Amino acid sequence: MIKTEDKLMMMPGPVAVPQRVLMAMAKPMINHRGKEFSAIYDDCQRISASLFNTAQENVSVISGSGTAGMEAAVGCLNNKDDKILAIENGKFGQRFKKIAGKYGNVVPLEFEWGKSVDLAAVEEKLAAGDIKTITMVHNESSTAIRNPAAEVGELAKKFGAYFILDVVSSLGGDDIRIDDWNVDIAVTGSQKCIAAPPGISVVAANERALAEMENVTTRPYYLDLVAYHKSANKELKETPYTPAVSLFYALQEALKIVEEEGVDKRIERHFLMTKAVRDSVTALGVEMFPQLNEVSAYSNTVSAMKAPAGIDAEEIKKAMNKRGVIITGGQDDLKGKIFRIGSMGATTPTNIMTTLSELEQVLYDMGIGEETGAVMDIAGKTMAKLYE
Ligand SMILES: Cc1ncc(COP(=O)(O)O)c(C=O)c1O
Repeated sequence: MIKTEDKLMMMPGPVAVPQRVLMAMAKPMINHRGKEFSAIYDDCQRISASLFNTAQENVSVISGSGTAGMEAAVGCLNNKDDKILAIENGKFGQRFKKIAGKYGNVVPLEFEWGKSVDLAAVEEKLAAGDIKTITMVHNESSTAIRNPAAEVGELAKKFGAYFILDVVSSLGGDDIRIDDWNVDIAVTGSQKCIAAPPGISVVAANERALAEMENVTTRPYYLDLVAYHKSANKELKETPYTPAVSLFYALQEALKIVEEEGVDKRIERHFLMTKAVRDSVTALGVEMFPQLNEVSAYSNTVSAMKAPAGIDAEEIKKAMNKRGVIITGGQDDLKGKIFRIGSMGATTPTNIMTTLSELEQVLYDMGIGEETGAVMDIAGKTMAKLYE
């Protein structure tokens, strides 16, 4: 049996964390209201802002996983009667809908999980009247679809709505331009493409959103973005309450690694690794799960595949685990029907090669394919640029 610590993490988060980042967490505690912490916060804010493509002062860092950021965004921007259009085509769009139901008057817009967002339907809901806020997930990790953020942002602008975008599983692994896309609040998590441990959410909120928050009487206390924003922009940068200091060390180091690689190179690496997965599984006769329309795309950071006929996707996941590669299955109704492979963060082409050759063998053992060995050639060709 392969020991847990020797297994290869290929899930769409949490991802394997580089040694440098793990080591950073071993540093001693410091005063979180002092110069040293302020400098760490400044690095986190500055490098994150370059990934969001927004101004540094918009960025706040919260101790809490991505969902904390989602709740902060929805809860700080909406009073109970405000209408929130919650676009759902997967698990995390559904999560936004559930949060919206707690803080506002939710107007659901549901598409079958795995299907694309239909812009005409979004426009129809907005035209029907007084939607204050739109929530959407950019990279729906549960189905591996990249949703049309720029296009929905255009609609938000046209109808004067606020736009909250989840970039939890795409920031640091895909091109994100929140200012250009009219996004008022964007939220990410530490444990995906940034390759830090779970437990931190980074939120970017623009002036328009922050001004509107002053009118919201039911803002959450711990997750009050007005308070986070004020603290983040003091001369000595800090958080309103005691932060998870060790996780800040980790985030800082992980973001330095992102900066050293270069954002464009990092996005290209994510693209080529994810494409290598698609090219290889398709050659094995496995169908991709997303049903794309003209404004959607395959995710740049995770792939979702249908289990071949007669095979339970959970069995593929278990067999891969036995062989030392941890992949994920489907969530809720998709359990047993799809399996997912992440190609996020510090994942290397070698990791992708290992995963695909193990998958080829697992599927072969289940009666799929005539022979093994093809994927190394296919994936190698797709990722050729990464070997230069
Ligand atoms: C797209 C997306 N949004 C939100 C979340 C929730 O983040 P967390 O589990 O960090 O609270 C996830 C986590 O898997 C995600 O993939």
